[in-house]
Amino acid sequence: MALVGCGAISKTHIRAILAAGQTVAALCDVEPGKAHALAEATGLSAPAVFTDYNAMLDAVRPDIVHICTPHDLHVPMAIAALERGIHVLCEKPLAVSRAQLREVIEAERRSTAMLGVCHQNRYEPNMRRLREMVKTQPQGGYATVVWRRDAAYYRSGAWRGTRAHEGGGVLINQAIHTLDLMQWIFGTPTHVTAHLSNDFLRDVIEVEDTAACTFESEIGARWQFFATTSGAVDFPIRICVRLASGELVEAQNHQFTVNHQVLSGEDDTGEGKWVWGDGHQSLIRDFYEHVQENKPFWLDAEEGAKVVRMILAAYQSNGQRIRIAGE
Ligand SMILES: NC(=O)c1ccc[n+]([C@@H]2O[C@H](COP(=O)([O-])OP(=O)(O)OC[C@H]3O[C@@H](n4cnc5c(N)ncnc54)[C@H](O)[C@@H]3O)[C@@H](O)[C@H]2O)c1
Repeated sequence: MALVGCGAISKTHIRAILAAGQTVAALCDVEPGKAHALAEATGLSAPAVFTDYNAMLDAVRPDIVHICTPHDLHVPMAIAALERGIHVLCEKPLAVSRAQLREVIEAERRSTAMLGVCHQNRYEPNMRRLREMVKTQPQGGYATVVWRRDAAYYRSGAWRGTRAHEGGGVLINQAIHTLDLMQWIFGTPTHVTAHLSNDFLRDVIEVEDTAACTFESEIGARWQFFATTSGAVDFPIRICVRLASGELVEAQNHQFTVNHQVLSGEDDTGEGKWVWGDGHQSLIRDFYEHVQENKPFWLDAEEGAKVVRMILAAYQSNGQRIRIAGE
């Protein structure tokens, strides 16, 4: 395996690679010190370190490359690997524009290699359970994502909070996981009405820190979505669904309730993975198994594009109800 982008999320990937019994042959970062620090922190024995991504792919020819770089680099880096027949495990979001989506879907179609997108919360048992319940009784619902990302967080990377590199704010970075779960549970929505604002970090970021959206599906199911990075702390995500039977089901990553009765999970507080979701190891192991058996992976470019299309439509909405364009 090889990995590019040795920042905050990279440790989680390296640990998952090692847990799957695989070897990390090379690391790449424009700041080589970060690659060396990552190797040391995760106990890797002398992986080759590169500052040029294409040079790493050519020199090492890994079976799979993990892409953990800023958002605008995902597509050019994925395409460079796919064109060389190297499989790609790409962090979210798959892309930051519709043009990038088209390019990467096309590159995946042309390639002998596969691409997987890191929407690890689809591996959370509570979310799978909720999806099974909703599938037979599609109804309305709502979801909330209230996390804390303050000025210090945004100043920790020049790409953060910029339209050009992050592609947006809370929707495309933090809330994307929950939006993806919602479309996976309710079906791909056709329309969105979105109100976006920068309420708390006006002097720090040029993108939204707060979003309130209504999504509608083909069959008329509606769901509301509220997300902000202005929370006092990170709260667990909350997905609440009213079933046709009248029951109210509420799922968090670690708690599942029906009509207030707790069916699993005692404690809904925590931090880090507790709130973000802890499915990286399951997703990465699953992707590797598909590569080894040469079977198409379910979370491919087309699947990863669905939530990006929703977000790009929300960015265009400006309070108006608009259609979410397909391919
Ligand atoms: N799935 C999740 O739960 C989750 C959680 C956190 C972050 N992420 C995603 O992971 C990605 C990285 O986020 P992060 O928080 O680790 O960011 P980060 O800024 O901490 O790390 C990004 C790294 O990429 C390096 N980099 C930048 N340009 C490069 C280039 N051209 N070549 C090689 N290296 C380059 C930077 O030097 C930095 O070390 C983002 O897409 C983010 O959305 C996903």
